[in-house]
Amino acid sequence: MPLDPDDTICFCFHVPLRKVESFCRREKPKAASQISECLAAGTGCGWCIPMLRKVHTKICGEYKPWWKQEEAVDYHSAERDAGQDAIDSETYAAGRAKYLAETKRQPPPE
Ligand code: FES
Repeated sequence: MPLDPDDTICFCFHVPLRKVESFCRREKPKAASQISECLAAGTGCGWCIPMLRKVHTKICGEYKPWWKQEEAVDYHSAERDAGQDAIDSETYAAGRAKYLAETKRQPPPE
């Protein structure tokens, strides 16, 4: 089952998918990194960044400046890299725990 609009997409800052989609439709950020202006999504442990990029690309289209023509090597997990329509909320959330353990990153304090 795909992610529900009310599912949390950034666990560090408790940002639901709906907020990120609304932000992208309203602000039309050129780069996915600008989604950080939406309740700081993506600025904690980094787990959700690939999903934020997918949401950004889906809503805003792909924008690649000339200096980023080649794809960076992405070594992260399949759970996080799956599109929002290809993963359920439990699998997405479980993947983050694995990511935090593998990378030894810490979520921001509550
Ligand atoms: S889950 Fe989004 S920054 Fe940690």
